[in-house]
Amino acid sequence: MIRILANDGIDPSGKQKLEAAGYFVDTNKVPQDSLAEALNHYDAVTVRSATQIKEDVIDACPNLKLIGRGGVGMDNIAVEYARSKGIEVVNTPAASSNAVAELVFAHIYSLIRNLHSTNRAMPSEGSASFELLKKKFSGASELRNKTIGIIGFGKIGQAVARIALGSGMKVLANDISGLTTDLEIEIHGAGKVKVTLEPVSMDELLSNSDFISVHVPKGQVIGNKEIEKMKKGVILINTARGGVINETDLLDGLNSGKISGAGLDVFINEPNPDPAILSNSRISLTPHLGASTSEAQERIGTELAERIISYFTSRA
Ligand code: 3PG
Repeated sequence: MIRILANDGIDPSGKQKLEAAGYFVDTNKVPQDSLAEALNHYDAVTVRSATQIKEDVIDACPNLKLIGRGGVGMDNIAVEYARSKGIEVVNTPAASSNAVAELVFAHIYSLIRNLHSTNRAMPSEGSASFELLKKKFSGASELRNKTIGIIGFGKIGQAVARIALGSGMKVLANDISGLTTDLEIEIHGAGKVKVTLEPVSMDELLSNSDFISVHVPKGQVIGNKEIEKMKKGVILINTARGGVINETDLLDGLNSGKISGAGLDVFINEPNPDPAILSNSRISLTPHLGASTSEAQERIGTELAERIISYFTSRA
């Protein structure tokens, strides 16, 4: 019987699929420092972003045949090294795009209507200072007719663009591919609308966007040099990976007023983000929740199970 350790959990839909195919699925989490030893008793391991499957673990488990990432980013897995040892590595690249895109807009709406601040202020001051808070947080702004710059125009960037266009925003997209994109947007009751987006240069995006959301897998794409080129009052969103926006430069930009707000779901040094980031009142914060909707996790679990079954079936 094929034994699978789902070390960061797996949605019941995926677990049931695997069990129906006759596999044993263990969802008891093994701590990182015991993983190399424990994995000798399994044929495959699935992870989210918490568990690290790096060279040391791979070297210690010569019988491991498959590493499954329930999600997109594989920076916690030594992918090339695993493949060089004949281990199959799979992920679920499309299953969570909409969930991440909706979180981008949860942060944007929160920031433009000051919900991140009013939710901090109302519990302690909402009764004694209601009128003062109303005055302090009035003068918000609307999204319609504003411009969003999207850096990285893959599946998630395109999902962000669909919501932005549906909200009446102008979209500026930048991607290393430099390709024109035909986006299909499903409008309930009206079928599909097609929008063609020509890519823009990074400089054009930086200097014309009211909001900038980054969707690249890794590497710093925004630091002081880029922030200098932005409009005063820009809002930045990072649901990609900690560090794609330099956190020190972000704090400087927020303190100087060049950046009016930021929405962060990912951080350098997770799970212990910088306290200066966590305590900044201009930042809307979530603890890496981009893919954490029940719909996305169900799609991820099902797709991961199908990929695992297909791999082992092809080897049988
Ligand atoms: C991803 O890369 O899929 C996202 O960052 C989600 O990560 P998670 O599965 O740990 O929530």
